[in-house]
Amino acid sequence: MREKRITTGNEVLDSMLGGGFLPGQMVVIAGPAGSGKTISALQFIHANLTEGRRCLFISASDSEESIITNSFRFGWDLKQFIDKNLLTIASIKLADALPTLSPDILSAGGLYSSSLEELPKVIKNSKAEIIAIDSITEFNDVCTSELERRTRILNLRRIISEIGATALLVAEVSPDGITTKYGIAEYVADGLILLSRYHTEELSHYLHTIQIIKMRWIPHSREIRVYDITDKGLSIRSPLYTTLASGGKLR
Ligand SMILES: Nc1ncnc2c1ncn2[C@@H]1O[C@H](COP(=O)(O)OP(=O)(O)OP(=O)(O)O)[C@@H](O)[C@H]1O
Ligand SMILES: [Mg+2]
Repeated sequence: MREKRITTGNEVLDSMLGGGFLPGQMVVIAGPAGSGKTISALQFIHANLTEGRRCLFISASDSEESIITNSFRFGWDLKQFIDKNLLTIASIKLADALPTLSPDILSAGGLYSSSLEELPKVIKNSKAEIIAIDSITEFNDVCTSELERRTRILNLRRIISEIGATALLVAEVSPDGITTKYGIAEYVADGLILLSRYHTEELSHYLHTIQIIKMRWIPHSREIRVYDITDKGLSIRSPLYTTLASGGKLR
């Protein structure tokens, strides 16, 4: 019998994974600015809502209203799922945290600790089967030490496991383009999907590529595929080598 998989929201990515994520996996999708990380996370959420799964979308920068409005541009009507109690959008605004914190919290040490503590609470209370966090880097940014960052990610991993959810964590990449900004999430996570950007040799345009760097417990494609961002989300095309074989050159 074929084991149950959780769709990524993208047919090609599902097939690269042999059907999708394993239930219970925590996967990081990392990429540079504008590479389609938020769109991928919303595509994942929308596809799973359509399959009747209870979902939680956590954003550290966008309001619920903005997420609903912008998802609609891709044909993803999130409002209907909120009305059916299938979707919770939690907007945990870290930038707004400082002025709202009480002197007690400030004197307790962590400027943003109350916002950071909201994250595991929201997850625990959600009873969601599917979770997307956009982005884990923003939560990492406001931690005051490497130890705090690592401890909080490990704690998050534990809570996600406890509720049995499958999670996609958006992360920014470091300047090398191959690791996440803090280089922690990809080790704690079961999987890492890397989005990259290459300039063509003549500098006329750039190409987006996607690759599965790791996915614990399952065999997966190691191809580097070219993708476009379209009004239906990420559209994964041919492997990069076929683009190069047909005369395309990268810098
Ligand atoms: N309808 C559309 N059709 C084609 N491309 C689009 C469309 N909407 C957005 N894009 C492209 O998607 C990019 C934004 O995608 P997204 O917000 O998911 O990126 P991101 O990786 O989350 O960026 P950031 O790091 O800034 O959060 C835009 O910069 C644009 O290039
Ligand atoms: Mg984004």
